[in-house]
Amino acid sequence: MTETVKKLWPELEWINDHSLREKTAKTWELALEKSALKREDLDIIPFTLLCGPDLKVSFMAHKRCVVHIAKESGEKMNRFFSSDLPVNMDVLIAGAILADVGKLLEYEPDKNGKAVQGKYGQYIRHPFSGVSLAESCGVPPEVCHIIAAHANEGDLVKRSTEAYIVHHADFMTFLPFKSRLG
Ligand SMILES: [Fe+2]
Repeated sequence: MTETVKKLWPELEWINDHSLREKTAKTWELALEKSALKREDLDIIPFTLLCGPDLKVSFMAHKRCVVHIAKESGEKMNRFFSSDLPVNMDVLIAGAILADVGKLLEYEPDKNGKAVQGKYGQYIRHPFSGVSLAESCGVPPEVCHIIAAHANEGDLVKRSTEAYIVHHADFMTFLPFKSRLG
């Protein structure tokens, strides 16, 4: 694992399975390598382009918040539901860390340095590019499923428990920025 990815994602340490942790880190390394964005941009660009120009919450602030919410949600569900609804914490955390990795290919800087959806991103939204990156790094299907199903496209498929958690963690921290009462 490179120092850049280690610093970018301290939450990788929460993945107990060494091989899954390495594959998750490798996917981010590959995305950074292929992206038109730089690592520094991730602390500056907004986490979504769907909430207007005034959104100040950065890509990394949002992504890390989703991972933290997903982890705590999984822990509570395992505590209260136990074998009635088991949550695989490694799969959950890896999936949450990777859910938006495809945005590194979907977004690119315009001539003013502002992040915009590039031509590639218009054709291949990040749930698809994310799966492509992750599969090429050996990430298993139960984790790729979370990437594939985390956004609106996932409403068309049957989600795993872990994918439901990541979807809701993502949307509960997105929808109020997009539109809210008060
Ligand atoms: Fe997303």
